[in-house]
Amino acid sequence: MPEFKLADRIASLPPYLFAEIDRLKSEVAAQGVDIISLGIGDPDLPTPQFIIDALYEAAKRPENHQYPSYVGMLTFREAVAKWYKQRFNVDLDPKKEVVSLIGSKEGIAHFPLAFVNPGDLVLVASPNYPVYPVASSFAGGEVKMIPLLDENDFLPDLDAVDAATWDKTKVFFINYPNNPTAATATPEFFAKVVEIAHKHNVIIVQDAAYTEVYYDENKKPISILETPGAKEVAIEFHSLSKTYNMTGWRCGMAVGNATLVAGLGKVKENVDSGIFQAVQEAGIVALQHGEPYVKEFRAIYKERRDVVVEALRKINISCRVPDASIFVWARTPEGYTSSEFVSKLLKETGVVVTPGNGFGDSGEGYFRISLTVDTERLKEAVSRISQL
Ligand code: MLT
Repeated sequence: MPEFKLADRIASLPPYLFAEIDRLKSEVAAQGVDIISLGIGDPDLPTPQFIIDALYEAAKRPENHQYPSYVGMLTFREAVAKWYKQRFNVDLDPKKEVVSLIGSKEGIAHFPLAFVNPGDLVLVASPNYPVYPVASSFAGGEVKMIPLLDENDFLPDLDAVDAATWDKTKVFFINYPNNPTAATATPEFFAKVVEIAHKHNVIIVQDAAYTEVYYDENKKPISILETPGAKEVAIEFHSLSKTYNMTGWRCGMAVGNATLVAGLGKVKENVDSGIFQAVQEAGIVALQHGEPYVKEFRAIYKERRDVVVEALRKINISCRVPDASIFVWARTPEGYTSSEFVSKLLKETGVVVTPGNGFGDSGEGYFRISLTVDTERLKEAVSRISQL
């Protein structure tokens, strides 16, 4: 009987955080427990109808049934460039500085294959979306975490990294608005990142998936590409997922430095065949006409955020009031590690939250709540937390 062994890169992987949460959730649900699912950042609100209608119309056209273009339809990339101009006042050449992605996760996962050689150093600001270190390791990179600490507003302490380490670094992953801490970046922070990148020849990968979920018009999250000189060193990943409630559609984009965009495009040409064109056409109308809907979603998330923060504070669970993202990052109660707390909470109350350490060691002592159920259920969830 032949025996098939997993490759070391897969065999040595911990379970994928969100798949593991799904597994535990199903186990508990099978016992008839009423589950409140706050584990994954997957909007519960539906995709706006006009986007669905655009998909329907586009899906009827036979030219959309054939292979799409690898880098994305030019019309989609133009819509992305226009949206970046309107939203961030960033100029992008749609032909060279935009590539479409089958969701930003896909692009993030493929990016290191284009630029990381075995042994190259990759820095990841952590706690982090698990895909950054895993994809970097798949490419043979050596990953080093830079902790995000509460006392630094969950921004990495760039001065704590010595010049020799920066010199060795090929890629630096950052993510603002941040998942899981919900922190936002300042222009000064991005300026410093860009300065370091120029000085030490470092590629900056900034994941911007949550820029559109903000709570105050005066504190709109920024793009790193607004920073002078950023386009020479940075690629920014974005997505329609969280903005327009389109996680299931798999539609995203990477923008910025033309060499970085082209490198990623080269990997993609070899491993996938682009996004279904009907989805791209729907994505175009989302980018063009979605803002009034997004405004409504923001108001809904804001109400949810306030309900959760207030209820957590009443039961002495400390958390910051997030300025952006669909997450609340809270301290685990005294006496519990993140995993202990999360697993007890699930088993005894049916509330699913994400353990902070699932995002890296510096997430220990925290848990993450996704604001992806209605306010009544959120109140119920916090009331169950208080009974632990
Ligand atoms: C999260 O919950 O962190 C994200 O939704 C996961 C993802 O986008 O893949």
